[in-house]
Amino acid sequence: MRGLLLCLVTFLNGAGLARADNPIVQDIYTADPAPLVYDNRVYIFTGHDQDGSTYYNMTEWRVFSSIDMANWQHHPSPMSLETFPWASNNAWAGQVIPRNNKFYFYVPVTNSATGGMAIGVGVSDTIIGPYEDAIGGPLLENAEIDPTVFIDDDGQAYLYWGNPNLWYVTLNEHMISYSGNLTQVELTDEGFGTRLNNPDRPTTYEEAPWLYKRDNLYYMVYAANCCPEDIRYSTGPSATGPWTYSGVLMAFDGGSFTNHPGVVEYGDLSYFMYHNGALPGGGGYTRSVAVESFEYNSDGTIPELNMTADGPAQVVTLDPYVVQEAETMAWSEGIETQECSEGGLNIGYINNEDYIKVKGVAFGDGAVSFNARVASAGNGGNIELHLDTVDGPLIGNCTIVGTGGWQAWTTVGCPVSQATGTHDLFFRFIGAGTDSLFNFNWWQFE
Ligand SMILES: *[C@@H]1O[C@H](CO)[C@@H](O)[C@H](O)[C@H]1NC(C)=O
Ligand SMILES: *[C@@H]1O[C@H](CO)[C@@H](O)[C@H](O)[C@H]1NC(C)=O
Ligand SMILES: *[C@@H]1O[C@H](CO)[C@@H](O)[C@H](O)[C@H]1NC(C)=O
Ligand SMILES: *[C@@H]1O[C@H](CO)[C@@H](O)[C@H](O)[C@H]1NC(C)=O
Repeated sequence: MRGLLLCLVTFLNGAGLARADNPIVQDIYTADPAPLVYDNRVYIFTGHDQDGSTYYNMTEWRVFSSIDMANWQHHPSPMSLETFPWASNNAWAGQVIPRNNKFYFYVPVTNSATGGMAIGVGVSDTIIGPYEDAIGGPLLENAEIDPTVFIDDDGQAYLYWGNPNLWYVTLNEHMISYSGNLTQVELTDEGFGTRLNNPDRPTTYEEAPWLYKRDNLYYMVYAANCCPEDIRYSTGPSATGPWTYSGVLMAFDGGSFTNHPGVVEYGDLSYFMYHNGALPGGGGYTRSVAVESFEYNSDGTIPELNMTADGPAQVVTLDPYVVQEAETMAWSEGIETQECSEGGLNIGYINNEDYIKVKGVAFGDGAVSFNARVASAGNGGNIELHLDTVDGPLIGNCTIVGTGGWQAWTTVGCPVSQATGTHDLFFRFIGAGTDSLFNFNWWQFE
């Protein structure tokens, strides 16, 4: 991924260039994507690598959502280590699945009583949470990680997990207990391919299984060949195999020595979610989630995918005439998100020349004004509205003044001109001093 990294660095230093859209989140490091399409919206649950991390010292999960695969709305953390009083650390790779009008979030965490990795379950009435501990202790524990969950057409739910082995159990209908034994999948060369570099691990299977079904074929996608890892997959006639090794889905490309797959269908295309180290400061413990689109070959195989900086095409344009959350972004520079007193998140920690890109905004016949929900305990500043690039045509320039508090919200309106057709929209923040300028909750054109 050296090429991608250099390319991104060039983007980041080159004002005026079109911005890359992978990785999909830029203000924090994210890892281990678990996508879920629900109610015509794509959600990606992730882990959160801390800035400057030198290990997988992760304390919370995050969730992002999109209707266009280009602009991602950031949501408050849906679940953290604190959700599980019996867990001490290692908020690692999980997956959410809906059932019985609830959402179940399977995650590996360290069980403080044993010091070993166990799998816990969060439950919520809403997809974005917050999730609560569904059981009050582990669902199961065998020192292995990376749960993936799948409900077959006959209603039987399966939980697979494991590093270095691959395990499954059949979950009961209420999703928080299982029946039968923990079953270890036999890792054969036919099923998982021959590993060449590690006599202790005879097949390519390493970790991060992702199970799903398409056209009567079951897919087991996984991280292979540590380290560095690539992504491979196997297919089979049932949710319990037997598995047939099907080859490489995504090669190692530098950056992060691990990877972690997730696959969903959305609209006309299929999407592959993974992580890399492509953000500045990125690496094996400071990872970032990215997305590629693909179409299956006619025989059901998956074409080998490359990591790209462009990501998938935008599915639908963004409507600027309805309220849009400021934390719905294709790319950002400098800003962070924080919990908002009006619900959800707001953009905060805004400094001079930070910016947000919103991709594919359909202005149509033209906008005449812009409203922004803002707050500032400082002196405020300006939101410049640029088209196409961060220093492209200026269609408006809104002055924000102090409101007496970082959560003391007010709506500011300002005139807009020359905003017609469909463009990428850049909010460029301007102001004096080194303190934060203001916070930004939502926006809407008229
Ligand atoms: C892990 O992160 C937490 C929260 O930032 C920090 O308090 C703790 O010292 C870290 N532990 C290690 C081993 O880095
Ligand atoms: C579960 O494991 C036990 C002990 O290995 C074995 O006796 C039993 O037959 C297994 N049950 C099933 C349903 O496989
Ligand atoms: C991935 O990159 C390789 C090497 O550049 C290229 O041959 C291949 O066509 C690419 N695959 C896709 C799906 O673009
Ligand atoms: C927007 O207004 C601010 C405050 O007057 C000013 O500093 C800034 O230069 C303006 N931006 C542009 C592009 O004119």
